[in-house]
Amino acid sequence: MRTRQLATLQVPAIGYGAMVLSPGIYGAIDDTRAEAALKAALDGGATHVDTSDAYGVDGHNERLVGRAIKGRRDEVVVATKFGLAVPEGEPSRSQPVGYAFGELRVNAEPRLVRRYAERSLRNLDTDVIDLYYAHYPDPGVPIEDTVGAMADLARDGLIKHVGLSNVTAAQLRAAHAVHPVTAVQNEWSMWRPVDPELLATARELGVGIVAWSPLGTGFLTGTVQSLGDGDFRHNAPRFSAENLAANNDRYAPIRALATQLGITPAQLALSWLLHQDDHVVAIPGSRTPSHIQENLSAADLTLHPDTLARIDEALAKFEVTGGTLL
Ligand SMILES: NC(=O)c1ccc[n+]([C@@H]2O[C@H](COP(=O)([O-])OP(=O)(O)OC[C@H]3O[C@@H](n4cnc5c(N)ncnc54)[C@H](OP(=O)(O)O)[C@@H]3O)[C@@H](O)[C@H]2O)c1
Repeated sequence: MRTRQLATLQVPAIGYGAMVLSPGIYGAIDDTRAEAALKAALDGGATHVDTSDAYGVDGHNERLVGRAIKGRRDEVVVATKFGLAVPEGEPSRSQPVGYAFGELRVNAEPRLVRRYAERSLRNLDTDVIDLYYAHYPDPGVPIEDTVGAMADLARDGLIKHVGLSNVTAAQLRAAHAVHPVTAVQNEWSMWRPVDPELLATARELGVGIVAWSPLGTGFLTGTVQSLGDGDFRHNAPRFSAENLAANNDRYAPIRALATQLGITPAQLALSWLLHQDDHVVAIPGSRTPSHIQENLSAADLTLHPDTLARIDEALAKFEVTGGTLL
C-alpha cells in the first residue's frame, strides 16, 4: 500500500480505526468478530491502528489492539488518545458535541497525563505508544500545559510522537511551539469539510492530518438505510429516519459517480480524501473483513482531475440535513 508522511512518521495512506470494535458504539459486537476484523486489517496492510482509552469500557478497545499486535509489534504504528476516560474522583469539564443529548467530559491536566499513558501502555501490553493524542483540548487547561506533559513522555521514551485531536488552528500553533506535533486528528470527509485554517496551519508547520470518520460514520458508503439497536448514531441528527432518507437522496449523484467509475462509494470517499492533501491519511473503521479489503484498495486509486472537479461540483450541491456529529 502507498505510504504517507505525517511529519517524521511514515504510515500507510489508509489505516484502521478500531473504535467500531467495542460494544455500545455501533451496536453489539463480540471479541471474536473484533479480533478477526483487526487481523484482516493488519494482514491487509492497515498497519496504522487508531484506538483510545475511551473506546469501550475500561480500556476494552486498547486491550483488543494489544492482543492483535502481539508478535507483530514492529509492523504496527499504534496510536491512542487520552483525556476522556477520566479517573474516578477527578474533576472534568464539558466538551460540547452535536449529539442530540449527552456530553463528553474531558480532563487533560498535565498532572494526569503520565498516569493516562501508563494505563494505556498496560492495556496495549507494549512499552511504547507510537503516536499519542490529547483526545480533546481541555477547556480548563491551556493546551501548552497538556502538550508540555506529553513532551515529558516523549523525552522519557513512553511515546514516540505527539498528536492532537479535535483542535483549532490556534491550538495547533500554540502546542507546536512547545513540542513538535506529528499529526492532528480531526473529522474530515465528504460530508464534513476540514477547517481550512487548520489545514493551512498544518501545512505551514509540516504537521500531518489523520481524518477521523472518513466514511461519515458509514453514511458515505451508501449502504446505511436504517440503524440497529444500541447504535450511537441514533443520537446524531443526520441519522434521524427523516434526515437519513433525505441525505441518502441528496447523495445519489455521488453514488452514481462511483458506479460510473467502477468503484464503490466507500472507495470514492476515501480516495477523494487522499487527493485533498499529500499529508492526509484516513482511518476508516469496519468490523467486516470484505469491507476492510474494499477500503484498503482505495489507497491505490488515482482520480483524474476531471473526476475530482465533478465530485467537487456534486459536493457543492450536496446539502446535508442535520447537524454535525461533533
Ligand atoms: N478523534 C476523535 O474524536 C474520533 C472520533 C470518531 C472517530 N475517530 C476515529 O476514526 C475511526 C473511524 O471512524 P468511525 O468508525 O466512526 O467512522 P467511519 O470509518 O467513517 O465509518 C465506519 C462505519 O462504516 C461502515 N463501513 C466501513 N467500510 C464500509 C464499506 N466498505 N461498506 C459498507 N460499510 C462500511 C462500518 O460498518 P461495517 O463494520 O459493517 O463495515 C461502520 O459502520 C474510529 O475508529 C476512530 O479511530 C476519532
